[in-house]
Amino acid sequence: MIQRLLITLLLTGPLNSVTANATPSSQPTDTIDVLHWWTSPSEAAATDILKDHYTKSGFAWSDQAIAGGGGGKAMTVLKSQVISGNPPHAAQISGQGIKSWASLGLLADIDDTVNHNQWTSVLPEFVSDAIQFQGRFYGVPVGIHRSNWLWVNPGAFEDTGLAIPTSWDELIAIAPRLRQAGFIPLTHGGEAWQQAAIFESVVLSEGGADFYRQALVHHDRKALTSPTMIRVFRKLKQIVSLTPDNRSKMSWDQATREIINNKAAMMLMGDWALGEFKINGQVEGQDFYCLPAFGTEDKFIYNIDSFAMFNTRHLKDRQAQQRLTHQLMSKEIQIAFSENKGSIPVRMDATDHLQGCQKQSLEALHASIKTNTLVPSIIHGMAARESLQVPVINFVSLYMSDPAATPEEAVKSLSAALLSPAR
Ligand code: GAL
Repeated sequence: MIQRLLITLLLTGPLNSVTANATPSSQPTDTIDVLHWWTSPSEAAATDILKDHYTKSGFAWSDQAIAGGGGGKAMTVLKSQVISGNPPHAAQISGQGIKSWASLGLLADIDDTVNHNQWTSVLPEFVSDAIQFQGRFYGVPVGIHRSNWLWVNPGAFEDTGLAIPTSWDELIAIAPRLRQAGFIPLTHGGEAWQQAAIFESVVLSEGGADFYRQALVHHDRKALTSPTMIRVFRKLKQIVSLTPDNRSKMSWDQATREIINNKAAMMLMGDWALGEFKINGQVEGQDFYCLPAFGTEDKFIYNIDSFAMFNTRHLKDRQAQQRLTHQLMSKEIQIAFSENKGSIPVRMDATDHLQGCQKQSLEALHASIKTNTLVPSIIHGMAARESLQVPVINFVSLYMSDPAATPEEAVKSLSAALLSPAR
């Protein structure tokens, strides 16, 4: 019964008066238990930075790394741990998820640490907003990712003598020649969130930032059922024809290796891909390039990586959580982590070291704040809570995998799902 109540609450969104009794492991311990989904080689290396720093002063870190890009599986595991009364001390939770968990009364606020260290003075406002619920801080942010990036294998264009395309239409036009030369025009794995990542970039390019917000943040009926949305789905159909046939079998880092191994020409993926290129010894500007996703040059879809701390009665556990919070937000860790992860540090006073794609990302972030073209990722839980994020991901993925589905039907079903009163 309690289990059902909790799941319902988690899926239906904030409920302010609930306080649940789930607390991390009943015995106080010197070990911090950390759940996250960073399991690709570069993600694991970035997590090691956090782990090594934490353990070097004699404290233990128990790693719960749940495979599955985008964190869908990790969130399922987290729910089952909470329901069984055994949440981790710290968990990777992003965006609206922080607000949902906080609304259930399950998270420890970190107000004292935030205020004592005056962190808000170094965080961009949108980051500060994302980690709060009802005026209190619950999320510890570690990096900002831009989800609308394209990654280019220069070899594919040198071999074929083709120019690097500047629009989806140009890529579609040269796709047969790339295929003839043995290259997959656009690689990506077939996981639902990866397919839906293409969708959010295309919504932004076809409709612009205001349209993106109307449709995916405010769920405005007119925007959701507009001719622009039909155009988005039409374009998606064409884009699917650029992707590999075996796409349902690849994780995002395997897809990245298709660029590295000279099998594919391009890939759309957030800048965690940069970490994967680097760990494979790839040199930016020589072995690969980054380009903003077509039509989104001056725009930025953000995805903030954060951790949240679960309530505990034990002083030792609380001290461990405070220690971790403090370390994650230190300048030293923010810099070292971003070098491996491909993200931008959330501390704006820790960004001087950025170069290449990361510097471009930082510049695009500042520019998009000025021009109001910074938008939250729906796929990574920034734009909407899980009860709306998951149907969008699943729905878009089904559409992209079904050759018979039409854009008109897709628009009807997606808007019906998002406008359903039950959500
Ligand atoms: C995102 C996360 C990124 C990256 C990606 C692939 O949700 O924010 O840091 O790890 O998933 O796993």
